[in-house]
Amino acid sequence: MSLFNVYPLFDITPVKAKDVYVFDDKNTQYLDLYGGHAVISIGHSHPKYVKNISEQVAKLGFYSNSIQNPLQVELANKLEEISGCKNYDLFLCNSGAEANENALKLASFHTNKKKIIAFKNSFHGRTSAAVAATDNPKIIAPLNAQQEVEFLALGDLEHLENSLAKNDICAVIIEFIQGIGGLDESTSAFYKGIETLCKKYNTCFIADEVQSGFGRTGDFFAFQKHNVQPDIISIAKGMGNGFPIGGILIHPSIKASFGLLGTTFGGNHLACAASLAVLDVIEEEKLMENSTEVSKHFFKKASEIPNLKAIKGRGLMLGLEFDFPIAEIRKNLIFNHKIFTGSAKNPNLLRILPPLTIKKEHFDTFFDALKSELS
Ligand SMILES: Cc1ncc(COP(=O)(O)O)c(C=O)c1O
Repeated sequence: MSLFNVYPLFDITPVKAKDVYVFDDKNTQYLDLYGGHAVISIGHSHPKYVKNISEQVAKLGFYSNSIQNPLQVELANKLEEISGCKNYDLFLCNSGAEANENALKLASFHTNKKKIIAFKNSFHGRTSAAVAATDNPKIIAPLNAQQEVEFLALGDLEHLENSLAKNDICAVIIEFIQGIGGLDESTSAFYKGIETLCKKYNTCFIADEVQSGFGRTGDFFAFQKHNVQPDIISIAKGMGNGFPIGGILIHPSIKASFGLLGTTFGGNHLACAASLAVLDVIEEEKLMENSTEVSKHFFKKASEIPNLKAIKGRGLMLGLEFDFPIAEIRKNLIFNHKIFTGSAKNPNLLRILPPLTIKKEHFDTFFDALKSELS
């Protein structure tokens, strides 16, 4: 049987990894400034993570959501403590798309409405409603196109109010810093405006923190810089450091009822053990502080690069924008310098999404390599 050929692959076969480094089958070491697409939060193969998962799987890896699972309660409590999001409820699932799918579905149940507002260049995943709210016609099948989604420009509060006033929008979903779209972020006034208008027109305000959450921006969530309170917050990627887990934080104004949402695998024992290790390490190793600190160094070094159009993002969710396509540079960084970086929908943007354990000297190595490629 062949693999369904949907991924253009680099010819590299990683077999092990440690902290910010990945090693291939020839034992070549690569510096990981991509984090497997913003997934690796506490570093590859962190000892606490390995221990937690190994011990848990030896005891009980999985049972269904029809029994008590104290690890889910522990995870909810720890998440509340570290994120500072008081009194939200937690629903657990397995991926970012699933988190957004559940967020949108819940918004529709709660408001009894069905249209969605999303933003130009958004990416929210590949399941039914999540992909419909993604601004990329190439990945929207005719089946998904039946969802009614309006895409607005970031910052356009006037248009937003006109649409919400029709009173048929269940949710406004937004990445506070866009991921694959290219790291654009709007203003606090805009996000505050969304919050106010959503309240006024009984619409759920959904923060997609799948990529930006779990400390990546230096705050636990990217929205926290803007002092707003979303109704639903979706999480995944950094939450499991590679173990598949996602979830939504749900404001107490949205009520649960038996059977409203559900999943077989979501919140299983092993996934909870992985995510609990992630939260412990973020706290113990002060990784949010590290994101902020090392990010300053990145900005300083980046400002010394000639030909740079913009430095984008915050914390360790970063991008370097040039006025030419970066595909060749990205390939050369991998093959000449053994450094993984990421791309974006914007072909001129090089994305940097390292493990949150990264140190300044790793960025020094990266900038030396980048400078040599640019010259
Ligand atoms: C902001 C955002 N939302 C949702 C998703 C979808 O997550 P997953 O691939 O886990 O379904 C992604 C994935 O890149 C993302 O960046």
